[in-house]
Amino acid sequence: MTDGVGLRGVVIRDAVAVDLDAVADLERRSFPIPWKREYFASEVGAPFRFNRVARNATGRLLGYVFCAHAGGEIHVHKIATEPAFRRLGLARKLMEEVFAFGGRIGADEVYLEVRESNAAARSFYAGLGFRQVGRRGQYYGDGEDALVLARSPEPGSIRLDSAVPEKTHSARAVRNGPPEVAMPSLTEELKRELAGANEEFSNLLSNHLAHEKRLAELASKSFLSQDEEAEEKRLKKQKLALKDRMEEIAREYRARVGSSH
Ligand SMILES: CC(C)(COP(=O)(O)OP(=O)(O)OC[C@H]1O[C@@H](n2cnc3c(N)ncnc32)[C@H](O)[C@@H]1OP(=O)(O)O)[C@@H](O)C(=O)NCCC(=O)NCCS
Repeated sequence: MTDGVGLRGVVIRDAVAVDLDAVADLERRSFPIPWKREYFASEVGAPFRFNRVARNATGRLLGYVFCAHAGGEIHVHKIATEPAFRRLGLARKLMEEVFAFGGRIGADEVYLEVRESNAAARSFYAGLGFRQVGRRGQYYGDGEDALVLARSPEPGSIRLDSAVPEKTHSARAVRNGPPEVAMPSLTEELKRELAGANEEFSNLLSNHLAHEKRLAELASKSFLSQDEEAEEKRLKKQKLALKDRMEEIAREYRARVGSSH
C-alpha cells in the first residue's frame, strides 16, 4: 500500500456476515448495476472463495474484493474502494492479496470482466499487468460489452500467449453479474434442462450423483475405518464444490435466458 495518511491503520481480512451491509452500500455507490446484498451473502463463507474487506482504524469499510476459484483459475467477481479513498493504492493492495492467494493455491490465471466504458478500472488493471483475452457481447444488464482480462498470479510471469479460446471462458466459473430476482436453488427441472444443454453441467451432475451414492454407502456402515472416514470427509467437501459450481452455471444460465427459472 502506498500508505497515504488516509490508509493508515487499514486492516484487510476475510469478509464475514457483519460486513454485508457496508459492502452492499459501497457496491450501490460504485456500480451502475450493483449486486444485491443477498448475493454477497451467498458468497461469504461459500467454499472456493477469496473474499476480503479493508476497514480502517475506526472500522469504516474502505474496500472489498470478492473472488471465486476453481480449476486453477481465480475469478475476481467484484472489487471496489470507497470514493473518498481512491487513488491511494488500496485496490492495488487488495489485488496483491488476490495474487498472493493465487500463488499459494497454485492458480495459473486470474480472470475478471470489466465494462468497456470503465476507463478507471481498465487503467487500474492495465497497471497491474492484466491483458485482454476476450470480450463478452452485451454482458451487462444494460447491454454493454465486458472485456475479459487475465493475468498470472505470479509477478513478472504474465503470460504473453494469445487469447484464451472463447470456449474456455464460457465453460468457466463465470458470473453474469447479479441476477435481478431471488434465486431459487436448483430445481429438478432446471437440472434436467441444464444437463441436456451444458456438457460441463452434465459431467458435474453425474459426478455429484456418484458422490451421493458413495456417501450413502458410507453412511449406512455402522463402523468406518480411518481411511473411510477420510474418504467421507473428502467426498463431502468435493460434493459441496460440485454443487457450488452447478449453482454458478445455473445462475449464469438464468441471467442469460431470463428469470423464468
Ligand atoms: C477501479 C477502482 C477499484 C480502483 O481503486 P483505487 O483504490 O482507486 O485504486 P488504486 O489507488 O490502487 O490505483 C492503483 C493505480 O490504478 C490506476 N488507477 C486507479 N484509478 C484510476 C483512475 N480513476 N484513472 C486512471 N487510473 C487509475 C492508477 O495507475 C493508480 O495508480 P496511481 O494512483 O499511483 O496513479 C475504484 O476506482 C473503484 O472502486 N471503482 C468503482 C468500482 C469498479 O469500477 N470496480 C472495478 C470493476 S471491474
